[in-house]
Amino acid sequence: MALLVRILPVFCYALAALGQAVPQTIQLQSRSTPGGSALRRRALSPASEPLTDFFLGTDLQWFGNISVGTPPQVLTVVFDTGSSTLEFASTLCGTACSQVKFDSTKSTTFVDGGRTSSITFATGVGVDPVIGSNYKLTLRSAKDTVSVGGLSAKGISLFLITSQTAKFNIDPFSGIQGMAATASGIFAALVSQGLPSLFSLYVTPKAVGNAELTLGGTDPSKFTGTPVFASLPSGSGSTWQLDSPGISVNGKTTSVLKTSRTIIFDSGTSNILFSTDTANVCALSLSMKADGVLTWT
Ligand SMILES: *[C@@H]1O[C@H](CO)[C@@H](O)[C@H](O)[C@H]1NC(C)=O
Repeated sequence: MALLVRILPVFCYALAALGQAVPQTIQLQSRSTPGGSALRRRALSPASEPLTDFFLGTDLQWFGNISVGTPPQVLTVVFDTGSSTLEFASTLCGTACSQVKFDSTKSTTFVDGGRTSSITFATGVGVDPVIGSNYKLTLRSAKDTVSVGGLSAKGISLFLITSQTAKFNIDPFSGIQGMAATASGIFAALVSQGLPSLFSLYVTPKAVGNAELTLGGTDPSKFTGTPVFASLPSGSGSTWQLDSPGISVNGKTTSVLKTSRTIIFDSGTSNILFSTDTANVCALSLSMKADGVLTWT
C-alpha cells in the first residue's frame, strides 16, 4: 500500500524526460539517402494547445480539447502519459456519465468496433486514494476521425465509455488520451503523416497557469536552458520511466531514500506514489508541508 506525498507539480517533459541531472552526450550519426530516393519533407509542423487545470483545493489534472467525428464534436481529455488508449464518455453511457458526451449517431465517419472491455486505473486523480476497482471504465471499441491542436487523422481507434464508476463523476473532462511511450492512436497517425515523434507537456499550478500540450516539438517559451534527452532504460516498453539512484528532500537524503528505483512519469495523476517506507521518510523530512522540494537524480 503506497502512501501519497504531494509536491508542487511543475514539470515539463518531452519524448524523453527533461532531466535536471548531469548533462549527457548524444552520439549523432550521419546516414546517406539510398540511391534514387528523394528526401521526404516533414509534412506536419508542431502544434500547441492550452490545457485547463482541474483544481479542487489543489491542482489535480490538466486537460485540453480534442474533436471527434464528422462534423467534429469537441470533447476534453487528460493527456495521460500513464496509459495508451483514447476513451471518452458517450451517449451510450446515459446518466452514469455526468460529463459532456460524444454522440456517435451524429458522426458520419463513426465505425463501431463491436468489442467491449474495461480498464481499471491504478493511480487516482489526486486527493482520493485508489481502492480496489473504484476507478473503472467500461468501454466499446470504435474508430473515427480525431483532431488535436488543429492536426487531424481519420480512422483512429478509440473507445466509447459506456459505463463508469461514480469516482469519475467529479471530472470536468470527458475522457483520457493515452500518451504512453509507444505512440498509438491519433499521435501514431500524426507521426506517420510526418509529425516529429516528440511531444511536451507543461503542467503548472493554477497560480502559474498557461499549461500547454505541444505535439511534435517543444515550446521554447516554456523553459530556459537546453533540454537533456535521456533514453528509456531497455525493457521500458510503453512506460515513461527512468532509473534513479536516489531521492533527496530539501537537499537531504537518508539510507532509505538513497536507493536505486525506477521512476515512472505519469501525467494522469498529480500524486507521487512510493512504498510506505519511502513515503514515510519523505513525509517526515517535509514535516508534512505541502510544498517541500523533492528531487531525484
Ligand atoms: C475548447 O472548445 C470549446 C468549444 O468549442 C471552446 O469554447 C474553447 O474555447 C476551447 N478551449 C480551448 C482552450 O481552446
